Amino acid sequence: MPLQAAIPHTFSSPTTVKMSDDAFRQVRDFIYTDTGIYFQDTKKYLLEGRLGKRLQVLALDNYDKYIQMLKFGTRRSDEMRFFNETFFFRNEPQFEALENTLLPEIAKLKRAQGKTKVRIWSSASSSGEEAHTLAMLFLEKIKPKYPWMELEVVGTDISNGVLETARQGIYREYSVRNTPKPYLDKYFRKEDQRFCLVDEVRKLVRFENLNLYDRARMRMMSSFDIIFCCNVLIYFDQQSKIQVISNLYDSLTPGGFLFIGYAESLHGISTAFKLISFPKTVVYKKE
Ligand SMILES: C[S@@+](CC[C@H](N)C(=O)[O-])C[C@H]1O[C@@H](n2cnc3c(N)ncnc32)[C@H](O)[C@@H]1O
Repeated sequence: MPLQAAIPHTFSSPTTVKMSDDAFRQVRDFIYTDTGIYFQDTKKYLLEGRLGKRLQVLALDNYDKYIQMLKFGTRRSDEMRFFNETFFFRNEPQFEALENTLLPEIAKLKRAQGKTKVRIWSSASSSGEEAHTLAMLFLEKIKPKYPWMELEVVGTDISNGVLETARQGIYREYSVRNTPKPYLDKYFRKEDQRFCLVDEVRKLVRFENLNLYDRARMRMMSSFDIIFCCNVLIYFDQQSKIQVISNLYDSLTPGGFLFIGYAESLHGISTAFKLISFPKTVVYKKE
């Protein structure tokens, strides 16, 4: 796509720099190519809001300079990380609800059904921090109470780049910044400046490429007790959200639970779930 001739921007406050439609399309293409996240035309405000802050941090006074940096600079992969951002123990209230209420409820149900395996799907897993957090939580808090229980975690994402990191299980300090020390000490090996997950955690999780829009593939994802679909719906338009959430509903087993991101909601998207409130989080149950 040809680069637009530099258009002078008025530089009042960096967060208010206007993004031209052409600049929007160029940045969107970079992001889509590198991360799989597609900002539809109606989501320009979202990108403008995020990048306004980046311009400020990078001390750039217009988007053309930002685009030049993405095109010719060395920071492109660092910049892209802001769009598939994730970290271990990202939304603690969700993990507390799981540990204290939902997994014990699922354990009771499994016992009554004579089953042992719990299946969890991290459906926009990025580089695997969410999926691996679930595996650690299981090993640390659930397995000691329910030794008969087995866990299978599936992490999926549209981007092969992030899945490669997820499969390696090697992370930078940034990813583990919210990880409680006992977990860091027990489940990671520190090598140079990297944090390497131990095999005990990695073997509970597998990663696959999957586009949440791909109805055929989505239909093959079934019988999950818990699904995480966090911090990805925000990029989708209303119709896509309805389709994706309806498919996720079908992928859950009756009595299963869906988690979405802190800033996301199913209001106007689905009435199929029962909403359950926990301190500082909500969970959607398929009854
Ligand atoms: C911000 S990250 C969220 C990671 C993690 N769920 C969390 O909350 O920490 C969003 C992820 O969604 C993925 N993604 C975007 N569009 C997708 C799609 N249509 N299907 C599957 N994954 C998608 C991106 O590649 C990115 O890794």
